[in-house]
Amino acid sequence: MTHFTSLSDCSTDDLRHLLDVSGRLKKQHKSTGRNDPILAGKTLAMIFEKPSLRTRVSFAVAMTHLGGEGLLLRNEEVGLDVREPGEDVARVLSGMCDGIMARTFEHEKILKLAKYATVPVINGLTDYSHPCQAMADVMTIEEHFGSLKGRTVAFIGDGNNVARSLATACGKFDMRFIVATPPGYQLDSAEVDRIMTQVPEMDFETTDDPAEAVRDADVLYTDTWVSMGQEAEKQKRLPEFAGFCIDEALLAKAPKHAIVLHCLPAYRGLEISDAVMEGPQSKVFAEAENRLHFQKGLLAVLMGKM
Ligand code: CP
Ligand code: NVA
Repeated sequence: MTHFTSLSDCSTDDLRHLLDVSGRLKKQHKSTGRNDPILAGKTLAMIFEKPSLRTRVSFAVAMTHLGGEGLLLRNEEVGLDVREPGEDVARVLSGMCDGIMARTFEHEKILKLAKYATVPVINGLTDYSHPCQAMADVMTIEEHFGSLKGRTVAFIGDGNNVARSLATACGKFDMRFIVATPPGYQLDSAEVDRIMTQVPEMDFETTDDPAEAVRDADVLYTDTWVSMGQEAEKQKRLPEFAGFCIDEALLAKAPKHAIVLHCLPAYRGLEISDAVMEGPQSKVFAEAENRLHFQKGLLAVLMGKM
């Protein structure tokens, strides 16, 4: 693995290795309060075109724990493809830093950075995908249930970047994926075809009935109905998603052992109710913490050759 731009580019063995390294580094830090400084003297450049709490903090803290530094670049200053072409940004940063993490609107910008950089490039979310999130989610599911194969993940809401990466992750790890969206918000069929071509045996279902989706689910998952960059569509979208909230009534239709995940930030009362978010089946804060642990493993593998 040279870059981490898309889960579909990674083999299941690569992803398994990332989870194993992440688990080891998490255990080491939990038991000793520190990690070995395997990235001492190394710098990760971090570019954000969109806001962030989890991604920004987890990459910065992961670099600190591994002995290196996460250097935050304000996109107003970098101006990816505005002040300066991405091709040039990639090569300049490659000459000074040891890795690049970027959160962009267009996915093509990440691909361009990866094409021209000679250091690893990491996708910290694009309009198209959020692979770091999906891997932290898989890590959380495995920690909770002890295994992944055969688990059912029900995604309720918008067929968006997070749903897309989670679907691919489920395929890679032999999990069943059911996505319940209102009409018009399904995962695009070209994308479903692409995932099914990669993982032909994958159990992938789409529905517009949230109750049907959660009936046999081990994991209920949701995300905002209005992603970053879609703010102008908010008034149109909200009524169209009515009935797609993970609330106590929907959770009661799922098996008792089911857990609830949300990539956050959450909009209580819209895609998730306050009672579910704060309830015993919610594992959202363990999931958020796993962003740190997964990305530590990712940085250790990409920049520390672990
Ligand atoms: N889940 C996630 O990526 O959060 P941020 O947008 O805060 O980074
Ligand atoms: N789908 C959301 C995820 C936020 C982490 C967005 O793109 O805004």
